[in-house]
Amino acid sequence: MTDLATGPVFTDDYWREPFAVLGEVREQAPVREVELPDGGTTWLVTRYADARSVMADPRFVKDFRNSLPPEQRANVPGIPSPGGDMMLLNDPPVHTRLRKLVVKAFTVRRVAALRPRVETIAGALLEALTPTATVDLVDAYAVPLPTAVICELLGVPVEDQDAFGAWSRTMIDDSGEAATMQANASMTAYLQELVERKRAQPDEALLSALIEVSEEGEQLSTSEVVAMGMLLLIAGHETTATLITTAVEAMLRDPDLRDRLAASDQDGLRAAVEEFLRWGSPIAQTPLRFAAEDVTFDGGVTVPRGAMVMVSLAAANHDPARFERPDDLDPDRDTTGHVSFGHGLHFCLGASLARLEAEVALRTLLDRYPSFTVGADLPVERRRSVLVNAWPRLPVLLAPE
Ligand code: HEM
Repeated sequence: MTDLATGPVFTDDYWREPFAVLGEVREQAPVREVELPDGGTTWLVTRYADARSVMADPRFVKDFRNSLPPEQRANVPGIPSPGGDMMLLNDPPVHTRLRKLVVKAFTVRRVAALRPRVETIAGALLEALTPTATVDLVDAYAVPLPTAVICELLGVPVEDQDAFGAWSRTMIDDSGEAATMQANASMTAYLQELVERKRAQPDEALLSALIEVSEEGEQLSTSEVVAMGMLLLIAGHETTATLITTAVEAMLRDPDLRDRLAASDQDGLRAAVEEFLRWGSPIAQTPLRFAAEDVTFDGGVTVPRGAMVMVSLAAANHDPARFERPDDLDPDRDTTGHVSFGHGLHFCLGASLARLEAEVALRTLLDRYPSFTVGADLPVERRRSVLVNAWPRLPVLLAPE
């Protein structure tokens, strides 16, 4: 391996063995500047303790304008986000207002009520596959399931769900910038129109609830509802697909694990999902944060004001200072404190939905095809994304003869 104290991190080695590479970085230079594949640079934080503290520290901000001296802020445009202000890219007080409102609509009850629909969708997706031919389970199951669930959650009418699915697929496939922007624009325009329709004819789903919700006289504007819908889609599908993919890949490599989970009760499967979250870290590195002042870490490294900072959730979740034998997948371990859903103000809003989807996806697959197995060589390289830790495809034979 190259020198990971100062050399490049996101190399071929990383796409093959991200946890080994990140482990070396953590050992050699736990807070360091790294080059990103697109040519930019960021600071990368890899120790568990530092990761938690960065995510809970108001000196690290999401809107980079808040890292500038006040007199410069007004002259700099924010990051354009579809539809308007996006919660994940904002700090208090904007973030506080948006989060308070969405939390009122995105309730535990609403998520729990989705379970039967998630079961039906998972069953229908499997039903459509030929069990004796090799299928790509990423394409046929892990990706379409969360997309369909978001449609259900938001209240996208059934007749529009194929178009919605196609746009979101273009947005996550590496379809090139023009195609991605086009899909993004189509999705935004569609959601704008849908929000107007829901205003005229409210229903029980989340978009209507977001339109309705109010707190101390505050309500979300149409563009804020659209931005929230886009955020839920972007934040909720690829991540959940990655979690499902991680779990299936692990079971393909270890049929004993598959058999064990097939025989496990609900608590057992839930515990395994938590360990898949920790061990697989679907979001390897969190999206952007910026230092609003110079911040010195344990060990003496100072991140200068204005610098971009990425928290490596994957490195934190595999830090031996926090988890014993961190690289072992162990469904029996105590996973308390894993940071796969982040920490602090921006802690994942959809964590309970993601857990529900993964649990149902795995249960449905294991019940129906308990001896699913490898259908062709498994990929050795992950997708070349710094943000998600995902296998590009999983060739699976659902029912070997
Ligand atoms: C935020 C992970 C699924 C909605 C986050 C963050 C992480 C995360 C790490 C914090 C990012 C940061 O601090 O920069 C995951 C993982 C998922 C998942 C690993 C699946 C396994 C979902 C789902 C939804 C969702 C299903 C909704 C449908 C959100 C939203 C935020 C967020 C709205 C922003 C919260 C805020 O800024 O206050 N997620 N997520 N996520 N997630 Fe998730």
